[in-house]
Amino acid sequence: MSLTYDFYNPTTIHFGKGQVASLPKHLTKENKILVVYGGGSIKNNGVYNEIATALEGYDWLEFSGVEANPTYETMNKAVELVRKEKVDFVLAVGGGSVIDGCKYLVAASLYDGDGWDFLDGSAEVEKALPLGVVLTLPATGSESNMASVLSRRETDEKRFFFSPCVFPKFAVLDASFMQTLSDRQLANGLVDAFVHICEQYLTLPNSSLVHDGYAETLLKGLVKLANDWENRNEPLWQENLMLLANQALNGFIGSGVAQDWATHFIGHELTAFYGIDHAQSLAVVQPQLLRVMSSEKNEKLEQLGRNVFGVSGDAEDTIVLLENLYQSVGISTNLNDYANVDDKVLDNIIPALEAHGMSAIGENGTITLEVSKQILTMTQK
Ligand code: NZQ
Ligand code: ZN
Repeated sequence: MSLTYDFYNPTTIHFGKGQVASLPKHLTKENKILVVYGGGSIKNNGVYNEIATALEGYDWLEFSGVEANPTYETMNKAVELVRKEKVDFVLAVGGGSVIDGCKYLVAASLYDGDGWDFLDGSAEVEKALPLGVVLTLPATGSESNMASVLSRRETDEKRFFFSPCVFPKFAVLDASFMQTLSDRQLANGLVDAFVHICEQYLTLPNSSLVHDGYAETLLKGLVKLANDWENRNEPLWQENLMLLANQALNGFIGSGVAQDWATHFIGHELTAFYGIDHAQSLAVVQPQLLRVMSSEKNEKLEQLGRNVFGVSGDAEDTIVLLENLYQSVGISTNLNDYANVDDKVLDNIIPALEAHGMSAIGENGTITLEVSKQILTMTQK
């Protein structure tokens, strides 16, 4: 079947060392700029100073303390600041959490109601302040996509919204900012990007040579980086991860093809309840989900094994290769290896999936709550 789609991605990418110097191309001296960042890593690695230099002579202020898995509660404080100071441009400096928090911020600041309406689906974003990004952790692709994932502390919820209004205007991708990332963060980035590609590729066969071919190129790149893990602190390794993770979720390989995302939906609930890192939640869920769904995904699993790993085995052989890949960069695929996990996993996660409208997920809508239960049971080995 031929594909039909619209592909739209307006984010300008400034890739390479020193590209923070491009910031002024997007700003005027009349702008009131809010620089938003997380817990302070940018203060320790020189990124903050580079930005301050690039913004010399501009009118800017800052908001810090956006947490990993950004919260509604924290970002509402930023909304107050934007309104009080009449901010008209937001610059997010960080990883997916800061960027996602800022996507909420730019939309909620111009909205009359409660910004959570975007997350629970009761309102669509109609307008947003302009947003720019300086990326410090490649993983989510948030720097040039229209998705935002936010958590709400009081209800243990982690929800998402999409809007073309929150596409960043530009993103600076300077891999030298990655030098202070820990092994855990690098591994998380690699695994998150890998699973993003799988969510868009490991579904139904399609007729486009470009979509599958490009997805496989990106997957092979990530496998190569995992095999070359000992060089993870080298500039070229990091630069490659930065581009691979960006391309994995900038919208192209998913345009017009069947998409899954069930691993993400179940993984988000594990993070909401147990605080497991986003990528770790994916590494736990995905292999078991693929096992349970292997008859529907058989053709693509074999294609993945053949074209990415170079083996001509069956679906189960490919799944074992994926588990080995995640484990090879230090990420466990066993839920019981993570702190805080209790014996209430099914009691917590299944009702949350139901409440969030996740009762028929996957590319065919066949992952019912019963199937999710089966998958989650298999994650606790
Ligand atoms: O807060 P600071 O001090 O900056 O520390 C951060 C944070 O603790 C640190 N960090 C970032 N850059 C650093 C650094 N430490 C040292 N050196 C640097 N250069 O890393 C920690 C984790 O950062 P975070 O932004 O949370 O990581 P990530 O980029 O993995 O983002 C995860 C969030 O994105 C969401 C996830 O659910 C999660 O909330 N996702 C967003 C998506 C999207 N918008 O498209 C898709 C994804 O599937 C995902 O759901
Ligand atoms: Zn992800």
